[in-house]
Amino acid sequence: MLADKVGKQLGRPTYSLTGWLVTKFLKWHNGILEQNAVKLSNIQPVDTVLELGHGPGLGLQAASKLLTGPKGKLLGVDYSVYMHQMASELMKEQIAKGRVILHCCDLAAMPIAENSVDKVFHCNCYYFWPDLNAGASAIHRVMKPGGIMVTTLNLDSVIKAASMKILSGENWRPEVYMEALQSSGFKDVQMKSKRDKFVTFQAIFATAVK
Ligand SMILES: C[S@@+](CC[C@H](N)C(=O)[O-])C[C@H]1O[C@@H](n2cnc3c(N)ncnc32)[C@H](O)[C@@H]1O
Repeated sequence: MLADKVGKQLGRPTYSLTGWLVTKFLKWHNGILEQNAVKLSNIQPVDTVLELGHGPGLGLQAASKLLTGPKGKLLGVDYSVYMHQMASELMKEQIAKGRVILHCCDLAAMPIAENSVDKVFHCNCYYFWPDLNAGASAIHRVMKPGGIMVTTLNLDSVIKAASMKILSGENWRPEVYMEALQSSGFKDVQMKSKRDKFVTFQAIFATAVK
């Protein structure tokens, strides 16, 4: 019961006591994963970068600091109204300058042009997608040929969350997501273990082929 409630809030935080607590947890626990997803995406100043399921916005903040070129652009997609509003507040100056655009919608329906994004990153997000093939295809559609997708996760924590029934089904398994990436047109799909500030985490990389 509680596990189900927490799982639902992690998957789509709402304005509620549990949603507020979950958001505190995301900010406290996931900064390292967000910063490393940005770092591993090898963002160039003129890139167009997309974060999926940005939550409170820590990754957006880190990525926007690297997009210093005149054409550098940052996009974000999250279907939680609560997270969209929190991240919009955090990024309001960049949004006002037109350098950041946040969409409050399901990633399967993101209003982003085909072949327009150089780098896509996401953290702690794919486990909540009901259909990983649809999710991977939606990412592939918006990416430029040769574009890089990076997702970071703490596999130990994910396994624990699945054993506690906070995550349901099998979509949390990295190999299931990696298979979906491969069958949606990505190549060089691989997972590597990394370490930062005494934290071990995993990063999945994929290159869009068109
Ligand atoms: C566990 S939170 C992670 C937030 C942040 N990336 C972090 O690591 O702290 C998952 C986020 O992904 C969003 N999300 C999950 N599935 C989504 C979907 N299909 N489309 C858009 N956003 C989604 C949720 O609303 C939530 O904000």
